[in-house]
Amino acid sequence: MSEMEIKSLEERFNQRIANDEKIEAKDWMPEKYRKTHIRQISQHAHSEIVGMLPEGNWITRCPTLRRKVALLAKVQDEGGHGLYLYSAAETLGISREELIDQLLSGEAKYSSIFNYPALTWADMGAIGWLVDGAAIMNQVALINTSYGPYSRAMIRICKEESFHQRQGYEIMMALMNGTQEQRDMAQDALNRWWWPSLMMFGPRDAESPNTEQSMRWKLKRKTNDELRQAFVDQTVPQAELIGLRIPDDKLKWNEERKHYDFGDIDWEEFWQVVNGHGPCNKQRLEARRKAHEDGAWVRDAAMAYAEKHANKTYRQAV
Ligand code: 3HC
Repeated sequence: MSEMEIKSLEERFNQRIANDEKIEAKDWMPEKYRKTHIRQISQHAHSEIVGMLPEGNWITRCPTLRRKVALLAKVQDEGGHGLYLYSAAETLGISREELIDQLLSGEAKYSSIFNYPALTWADMGAIGWLVDGAAIMNQVALINTSYGPYSRAMIRICKEESFHQRQGYEIMMALMNGTQEQRDMAQDALNRWWWPSLMMFGPRDAESPNTEQSMRWKLKRKTNDELRQAFVDQTVPQAELIGLRIPDDKLKWNEERKHYDFGDIDWEEFWQVVNGHGPCNKQRLEARRKAHEDGAWVRDAAMAYAEKHANKTYRQAV
């Protein structure tokens, strides 16, 4: 293809983005647009699947049957979110096997938040309330992302995430209406999950190598800092309502900005965790590798059945 032809395709593509049109899998797109979407969508999918581990560890230890049913439903939802997102990534011409290999080899990232341990039952509340609350903030913005399959995956995912956030907040509310020991457990969980939840939104905009281009492509509709600020503004009143204290001495409503000012994030900790040196990185990848090995027979059986069924259908057709 000549340079002139590529230039005109790029101009047409940029005009479609400017018109807020959805780009579909069969449409022409710049190679960098395709690669960036494979990177972000697949890491989003990996986050959903790895995110099942901290909560899955508490299913057998739920305090009541009702809590167990809710947690089972939530963890199962996360698995489904991963499947939608892997399917969206596959529309860009990469196979599921390649995506899974990138996760299991440690090459691909997943959200830093899942490399922290879930130490008490209150962590199930803090994860639902804060982690899924942060995920909703980010994912609602992604409903308007320019790539059609990603945008449509977000619509279903966001509906389920709001149940996740509410069940988590309700756990925290129940604990705060409980004994002093239960209130202390809820505050301890908030103390441990607050700052890692702010880190979920990624580095500051000034340090983000991807945000500027992702905003131009309308992959991102809000920047990392804008989403982080919206999450703080929404979550602080929720904490205060049930008597929890946000672990940040610099947190203060700024009437002029109409936002909360908050303290400094420990970016050294953030990059340590992103680069594989968090409290649970090794454990999480080992668990995913074991699950993949243990599940090999299921994949083989499904592929064998599909092949046999395809051959039978072919023979009947000829
Ligand atoms: N954890 C791990 N890596 C992170 C990160 C985090 N919290 N934040 C940023 N990074 C990585 C980025 O992947 C990028 O590395 P790469 O170029 O090698 O991929 C690098 O740090 C620089 O960050 P940028 O801000 O420039 O990168 P992005 O433009 O990709 O923005 C993001 C990061 C905001 C996380 C964006 O990728 C995004 O919005 N992803 C979709 C949403 C998502 O993945 N959320 C994760 C949680 S999903 C979840 O919580 C499920 C729920 O059900 C519980």
